[in-house]
Amino acid sequence: MMRTHYCGQLNETLADQEITLCGWVHRRRDHGGVIFLDIRDREGLAQVVFDPDRKDTFAMADSVRSEYVVRIRGKVRARPEGAVNPNMASGAIEVLGYELEVLNQAETPPFPLNEYSDVGEETRLRYRFIDLRRPEMAAKLKLRSQITSSVRRYLDENGFLDVETPILTRATPEGARDYLVPSRTHPGHFFALPQSPQLFKQLLMVSGFDRYYQIAKCFRDEDLRADRQPEFTQIDIETSFLDEADIMGLTEGMIRQLFKQVLDVDLGEFPHMTYEEAMRRYGSDKPDLRNPLELVDVADQLAGVEFKVFSGPANDPKGRVAALRVPGGASMPRKQIDDYTKFVGIYGAKGLAYIKVNERAKGLEGLQSPIVKFIPEDNLEVILDRVGAVDGDLVFFGADKAKIVSEALGALRIKLGHDLDLLTSTWAPMWVVDFPMFEESDDGSLSALHHPFTAPKCSPEELQAAPATALSRAYDMVLNGTELGGGSIRIHRKEMQQAVFNILGISPEEQQEKFGFLLDALKFGAPPHGGLAFGLDRLVMLVTGAQSIREVIAFPKTQSAACVMTQAPGLVDSKALRELNIRLREQTKVE
Ligand code: AMO
Ligand code: AMP
Repeated sequence: MMRTHYCGQLNETLADQEITLCGWVHRRRDHGGVIFLDIRDREGLAQVVFDPDRKDTFAMADSVRSEYVVRIRGKVRARPEGAVNPNMASGAIEVLGYELEVLNQAETPPFPLNEYSDVGEETRLRYRFIDLRRPEMAAKLKLRSQITSSVRRYLDENGFLDVETPILTRATPEGARDYLVPSRTHPGHFFALPQSPQLFKQLLMVSGFDRYYQIAKCFRDEDLRADRQPEFTQIDIETSFLDEADIMGLTEGMIRQLFKQVLDVDLGEFPHMTYEEAMRRYGSDKPDLRNPLELVDVADQLAGVEFKVFSGPANDPKGRVAALRVPGGASMPRKQIDDYTKFVGIYGAKGLAYIKVNERAKGLEGLQSPIVKFIPEDNLEVILDRVGAVDGDLVFFGADKAKIVSEALGALRIKLGHDLDLLTSTWAPMWVVDFPMFEESDDGSLSALHHPFTAPKCSPEELQAAPATALSRAYDMVLNGTELGGGSIRIHRKEMQQAVFNILGISPEEQQEKFGFLLDALKFGAPPHGGLAFGLDRLVMLVTGAQSIREVIAFPKTQSAACVMTQAPGLVDSKALRELNIRLREQTKVE
């Protein structure tokens, strides 16, 4: 055997034992005739001491450099008092080196691993294999592995079967662009990589598997953000004969157990909130309940005012006028208010009116604001009472289309929560339920809010009569303002599925061409079924406290959906293209 122990696992109980380590030279120090090597492996560091008594070994230790791969035989001994390092797992002991073998040399790494250095992400990703040697990166990947183990254990114990589904498949509509793969054997035809295993897991229910799960790779060609990757992993789940309460209970239990096992945190029962309430109080369908700030509707008090900025949206059925109280905000300098005004501009807000409440007892005199002159005092009093304003507060106002106000004030609420350090707890899990079936775009057409296989809460006739107001049997799990997972009870009757396709403007021919296999399956004894999928990367990101999804993926893509290490995507030679029956356009060739 090449080694007997991991470096990070050495401790006092091994004192006076002979051991063999394999690892990388993390640091080399010369201390007046004695050489110290810190050796690193995935479990941590160990300090090895070489003294000049063993001449050859000493010379060898003197010759090694950072990141050389070495094998060391030696004896564990307690460190002398005063030399104990509490920051190191093996800090109470050291190893007296007897033999040292260089297994491989290393050039000077592109960035040092043994001291803090401010390395750009591009460099880290280009040399990811070195970046992952850093203990904090290794720790995140280890935690990720613990999380998938915990999830698999829970699902196994609850009777779920792990079934794989194809990667070369047809488009699954989850709302993003597809990654396409040309077929050599069917010229002009393309596979799509799955945006999710959605349809296959439903078909497995039709086949009678009853409880399915898969830790599945999904592919979506969409604009990337800090919590999105083109290729990501879902914990994908589907069940038969369970209703939404059962599925939420089961999967909530999974997340609760995971937090207990991995972080020793008790999440407790998750509160449920309707989509309507979430939008009204938090301006978001994934509210961060750690944050105490809330939006308060005040349109009724402003419908009659002269100030068109307010009265317009207050009288528009699609408008919204809402207030956001910031406790203690009256001391906010002008510059900061201007910055917040710019910030809400990103979401389309045309301004950010405010009232500083200096002294309510003084009436108008006690308020400082560019808008109070437009609002009758009675209405002002009602508004200030409704938001619960006390002396020293500031109240922001948004007035516009409901979507803009909710998004802008919803985002401002989150920003204020962080800027002013208002968060009241570490973890705030919840369920959002009663989503609308459809979302209306500006041209009036409807698209599925979740996906087109989600069951509505009503009959096909009722759905067709009033699709825009119909609610679905969908549910999202939200943790600290991040959508961790989402799912629904599915449509299991053909007529209902066709009704939804019709509302989405998918013609009967297209339904047959794209989803014929699903409509077939629904004809041949489809059980009532439903499920959910968690974003594993987002889950790991939250558990580890990572700032970006790229920090918890071994080999992530950059913001522009490329891999700087392998240089993917890459060009292919013309022979391969010819075999695929593909000719590039002139312009692309030149680039
Ligand atoms: P949905 O599209 O909501 O549902 O995806 C489920 C979860 O996957 C995560 N996620 C992502 N994570 C990283 N990068 C991305 N680009 C990305 N996109 C989504 C999110 C999200 O909550 N088939 C349905 C699930 C179902 O109905 O069972 C689906 O895919 O955490
Ligand atoms: P104005 O009359 O444009 O100077 O605006 C007066 C105040 O109303 C300023 O504080 C603006 O930031 C604010 N304001 C303008 N448009 C809106 C809007 N759509 N919603 C909220 N406040 C606004």
